[in-house]
Amino acid sequence: MVDLTCEWLGLRLRNPIVVGASPLCDTTEGASALVAAGAGAVVVHSLFEEQLIADQVSAQRYLDSHIDFNAEASSFLPETDVFAGGARPTLEHISRLADTLDVPVVASLNGVTPGGWTTYARELVGAGASAVELNLYDVATDLAETGEAIEQRQLRVVTDVVGTVDVPVSVKLSPFYASVPNFVSRLESVGAAGVVLFNRFYQPDLDLETLDIERHLEPSTPAELPLRLHALAILHGRTRVSLTASGGIHSGTDAAKAILSGADAVQTVSALLFEGPANLRRILDELTIWMDDQGYRNLDEARGATALDNVANPHELERLNYAQLLHSWSGA
Ligand SMILES: Cc1cc2nc3c(=O)[nH]c(=O)nc-3n(C[C@H](O)[C@H](O)[C@H](O)COP(=O)(O)O)c2cc1C
Repeated sequence: MVDLTCEWLGLRLRNPIVVGASPLCDTTEGASALVAAGAGAVVVHSLFEEQLIADQVSAQRYLDSHIDFNAEASSFLPETDVFAGGARPTLEHISRLADTLDVPVVASLNGVTPGGWTTYARELVGAGASAVELNLYDVATDLAETGEAIEQRQLRVVTDVVGTVDVPVSVKLSPFYASVPNFVSRLESVGAAGVVLFNRFYQPDLDLETLDIERHLEPSTPAELPLRLHALAILHGRTRVSLTASGGIHSGTDAAKAILSGADAVQTVSALLFEGPANLRRILDELTIWMDDQGYRNLDEARGATALDNVANPHELERLNYAQLLHSWSGA
């Protein structure tokens, strides 16, 4: 009998398959179906910094105050509906999900600038969120802002959110840091309970006829997984934060690879967008069968089995692996 229970962000889960932040849990029925299919936890879609600032500004306008409420308010938004709507519907939805589901409901915030919007984390927890996932979606566009300044700014946001709530805070990261391990270690030192590896990036294409930007949100494929496996293998055993794989988990074998590399849990979205709860059940069944076949009785026995924490000099090994890979090419 395989035991899939696990510890994730200090929460006890019945299994490590988590529904990632997305519209998948935007209805109580949809979320309930995914939990009935076996999801260990669910993450609700993100509230964006821009949306929360707009919420604060409109609340302030409503109160008709003459105080300069928030430095962010004076310069904040391009004209758009994307950030309309405020936090209230999401807070109410989290409250409904927390009342209905018997697995942890995780709220998500997306922002990269320190400011009053981070206090919404407390409201999300008040609504019933068991943890907060903070997505640091940040694209460097300023030639004068250094990598160190960007990281300091992001660490301040994390510190603020961590200081605002009494539940675990997990940080969803981009792969593009000069040193992911160093940044994870700094996140740990400011109180993050976990990291989600990695964000997928918005990669617009161009229409050469109209010169318009084409925005298509392509679902992922398992080809995105190795980048995550590599980072997990480097981090496992070197940090106490929970490690979550996100990006390219489409099957139980994908989940197994992430766990072998060191993941405490995996998140999946694209695999569920079209095939829904039945695919979540399939992922869970495949993982269970694989563990049984391999003789693993629980996740602790499998986790990190292929990680790099026992390698004396991982940096040298990384260079060697790369050189060997190039040498292995034998022609088409
Ligand atoms: C339609 C859609 C909506 C998403 N919304 C969010 C979101 O609100 N917040 C967030 O952090 N990530 C969001 N994501 C990213 C996913 O959580 C996940 O990181 C990404 O899809 C990679 O996982 P996958 O390969 O399992 O799809 C969204 C993804 C999709 C496809």
